[in-house]
Amino acid sequence: MEKKQTFYITTPIYYPSDNLHIGHAYCSVATDTMARFQKQQGFDTFFLTGTDEHGQKIERKAAEKGVTPQAYVDEIVTGIKELWKLMDVDYDDFIRTSDERHAVVVQKIFRQLYDQGDIYKGTYEGWYCTPCESFFTELQLKDGCCPDCGRPVEKTSEESYFFRLSKYQDWLIEYIETHPDFIQPVSRKNEMLNNFLRPGLSDLCVSRTTLKWGIPVDFDPKHTVYVWLDALTNYISALGYGTDHDELFKKYWPADIHLVGKEIVRFHTIIWPITLHALGLPLPKQVFGHGWLVLDGVKMGKSMGNGVDPVVLCNKYGSDAIRYFLMREMPFGSDGQFSNEALLNRINADLANDLGNLVSRSVAMVEKYFDGVLPAPGSYHKLDSALIELALSSPAKERQHMAELQFSLALGDIWQLVGECNRYIDLNTPWVLCKTPEGQERLKTVLYVLCECIRFVAVLIAPTMPRTPGKIFEQLGIGQENLKVWDSLRSFGMLTEGTKVRKGDALFPRLDIQKELEAFGLGQKISPAPQNAPSPKQASAKVAPTKEDAGNGHISIDDFAKVQLRVARVLEAEKVEGSDKLLKLRLSLGEKEPLRTVVSGIAKHYTPEEMKDRQVVLVSNLRPAKLRGILSEGMILCASTADDEVLKLVSVQEGMQDGAFIR
Ligand code: ME8
Repeated sequence: MEKKQTFYITTPIYYPSDNLHIGHAYCSVATDTMARFQKQQGFDTFFLTGTDEHGQKIERKAAEKGVTPQAYVDEIVTGIKELWKLMDVDYDDFIRTSDERHAVVVQKIFRQLYDQGDIYKGTYEGWYCTPCESFFTELQLKDGCCPDCGRPVEKTSEESYFFRLSKYQDWLIEYIETHPDFIQPVSRKNEMLNNFLRPGLSDLCVSRTTLKWGIPVDFDPKHTVYVWLDALTNYISALGYGTDHDELFKKYWPADIHLVGKEIVRFHTIIWPITLHALGLPLPKQVFGHGWLVLDGVKMGKSMGNGVDPVVLCNKYGSDAIRYFLMREMPFGSDGQFSNEALLNRINADLANDLGNLVSRSVAMVEKYFDGVLPAPGSYHKLDSALIELALSSPAKERQHMAELQFSLALGDIWQLVGECNRYIDLNTPWVLCKTPEGQERLKTVLYVLCECIRFVAVLIAPTMPRTPGKIFEQLGIGQENLKVWDSLRSFGMLTEGTKVRKGDALFPRLDIQKELEAFGLGQKISPAPQNAPSPKQASAKVAPTKEDAGNGHISIDDFAKVQLRVARVLEAEKVEGSDKLLKLRLSLGEKEPLRTVVSGIAKHYTPEEMKDRQVVLVSNLRPAKLRGILSEGMILCASTADDEVLKLVSVQEGMQDGAFIR
């Protein structure tokens, strides 16, 4: 028998925190979605997650609570596992850095690197940021504080072991340059090369004598292994690397994807590859740095106090709805604004209306017109063929988007199919067809095509929404496993006629958005006010749309608030090939955010040279769209005459920083 191809994917291992928020869930849900997708494709998939338990922060918190660090983390880890269960994050292994199986591998690696001269003993003098568990030199500090989180740092001076990163700098630069897929998205790759590698790597301090809660260096136990070296090793210790039980390592390493948040790409693309290379091991095929969920422009984070609790959301709306929202709302790689309004709107529009209604009305029509028995189709008309073609082209499109980790585009394409199914019902007017014998014949085909398309949709959404397909199959009366798998999408018409459909509960009950929002306001821990939230006076100005609004074109302030406008700087501009109207722009929203690509129809009015280094106003939360094959992530604002003869860019007065929000 042919050996199955393997796929190994990991999340970062999480710091134990009793309030994991929806930002953490974002990373795990994305990894889980990808793992499920690969399994669906027939790959032998391994999905690893876990917890990163050592370090001063945990040591201090445990001491504050009067418990041992181990007892402190044990309780939290139980909660984290429950959260993943609630969210259907179906990992294959959960590694804890406090596991003995992990410690032995870290110690072995440390010793090997020391024995071969890559680790040496010296004295460390510098600055340490405890929340980030990171060392910095004087030069790296920003205004005397941590360059990553801006918090105060502590001076340290102690005997330490050092890892000769500098020795591998040139090798790593060449590796990254010759392996364009290694760091994704590309903006992250450039950031690593330009900000960290080309300026020069210093040797890294990889042990501490002041820290006890960690893995001791076995040949010099007063030293504890630096937490990042300890943590990164999880990706291979979980597979049994360096032990007598290394079957999984042999089978799955190198990893296909390490999925990580953008702020920790640095550790995964500098320290980790150098460690692996020094050990003579191959590198992971890809490190993908995703963006952050932000609340009013501030990263959602446990220490920021603005975390949104995924448990509350899942219990209220179901994990499939939350997973769908997370994967649909923002392009993977960019930051995305989280808001309850956006979540509720997505649930109502995409899930209750588009998908839910499609299923319920299709099944209801089979019940009403054919006693619940799926009729056999007659010959296909033009309208049928167009929809069938769209359904048949959907798997390839999903595969392509998933290969690029564009979850949002993959779902966008599936919802195009859902939308076309709804349009197909409206165009075919079943309520008219049912009135004549010829019409009833035609109706058989229409309902068969619809139910088969819905089956396609159910299979396609399964990686993102693991619970919904089962409910759809049940309503369609599909029991056969072979109709639920990816391979069944190769041809149209697998659904067996004569199947008995069963109308069930609404897949996603419609929400009263106003009521739900009020419930959030009644003190439920959904989206606590971020630091720069509107004052109570401003907040009370939020009003629901009135009847008059509908008549005179007014929108409420809530509607306006949905549009995110930001100041962006054009770093690069070029003409889009084959178009005399379009320019492709690369925009910066400040140093901490990935660059955005925007395609704009201004080429007749501005040359690429004129655009460079200009500040523009960007609609930054516009759903990304492909223009001439380029993914455009937003829109820049211009004023123009009705005939577009005169067009001028909208700008802000000088002195505003890139990325600033316009309100
Ligand atoms: O970094 N939006 O752990 P962690 C999106 N232990 N993702 C977010 C987020 C947000 N608002 N907040 C956090 C660590 N994350 C280390 C990893 S790996 C060897 C060690 C993501 O618990 C964050 O970007 O602070 C990271 O990828 C993950 O949650 C874990 O963060």
